Amino acid sequence: MLLAFELSGEHETLPAGEVLACMRSLEIEHRVVKSEEQCLIIETIDEKPAMSTLPALLSARLAMTHHIIAVIFECDLSESSILESVSDAEIAIPLGETFGVRARKIQRSALSTERIERLIGGIIFERNRVNGARVNLTSPDHRFRAILTDDSCIFGEVLASTDRREFEERKPHKKPFFYPGAISPKVARALVNLCEIRTGDRVLDLFCGTGGILVEAGMIGASVIGIDVQESMVRGARMNLSDHGFEYQLICGDACNLPLRDQSVDVVVTDPPYGRSAVVMAESIVSLYRDALFEIHRVIVDGGHVVVVSDFELPWVGESGFVTIKLHTQRVHRSLTRYIAVLEK
Ligand SMILES: C[S@@+](CC[C@H](N)C(=O)[O-])C[C@H]1O[C@@H](n2cnc3c(N)ncnc32)[C@H](O)[C@@H]1O
Repeated sequence: MLLAFELSGEHETLPAGEVLACMRSLEIEHRVVKSEEQCLIIETIDEKPAMSTLPALLSARLAMTHHIIAVIFECDLSESSILESVSDAEIAIPLGETFGVRARKIQRSALSTERIERLIGGIIFERNRVNGARVNLTSPDHRFRAILTDDSCIFGEVLASTDRREFEERKPHKKPFFYPGAISPKVARALVNLCEIRTGDRVLDLFCGTGGILVEAGMIGASVIGIDVQESMVRGARMNLSDHGFEYQLICGDACNLPLRDQSVDVVVTDPPYGRSAVVMAESIVSLYRDALFEIHRVIVDGGHVVVVSDFELPWVGESGFVTIKLHTQRVHRSLTRYIAVLEK
């Protein structure tokens, strides 16, 4: 099956990285056919029975994908080529059902999305007129999307979409306990996904603050452990975690001297203080990151994945026993670049 992921444009590499990490954690064999800033196409190789539920599983997990689309065709970016491909595709709408077509430009293009939607819709309508097919643009039975990239049109039927409102509803200021600097739920979910978490994994955030990362990890089936040096943060995180119905453990402690046994967690996802506004309980930011990294190495299982957010490149990755498997960067403004390192023990 050829799947297109229509990605949010909020980061260059995180949205695609999140999709591929989820595919690996669900053990779906695949290969990347095309990767653009806002569109990733993959071919699944192993058509397990789980494939029928895959789009729903992925859309429940992913934060930075808008739609998951079964690709019907990819063609040149010209009106004639698109319309010819739609005609050739013989799209059948079952008796009496409705459909809608939407187009989105992810690069500059002279084509008008409204015109493309109308023309494609016209062809599908004519082809299915005898079946009583009707157009419904608000909640059709079949949603088709045309993604217009800089050189091609990717067309297919939407299998699942992510619920963006859900992330809006979990924004830090809407939670029972709020503290400035709390991570956005969308970013937290993407970080958690990058770690390839499997159901039941023990996930640690050793700088948990208000618990934003822990909430997202718990929601996808992890058992979560949060540590923060400030008792007030631990109390706040408890308020934010208590309503979600998954197992969690919160401890007031020092990330540089973790109160955990060796190899007692499967995954670590964390957003340590940058030393700008958040409290830093250590000799220096440098010693905090360095010592915490060695502690993470001690408490995580062999092969375990770690995601660390920082505003500098961590120089002690090799020395502490990890390998970097991916480094995502984000230029926030002139004097701040954020690094998201994915490490493996
Ligand atoms: C950037 S904040 C984390 C924000 C968190 N991701 C959230 O969504 O609220 C960093 C946290 O690290 C904690 N911290 C600072 N020094 C620490 C240490 N030595 N050990 C554990 N936590 C520490 C601070 O109390 C703060 O809550």
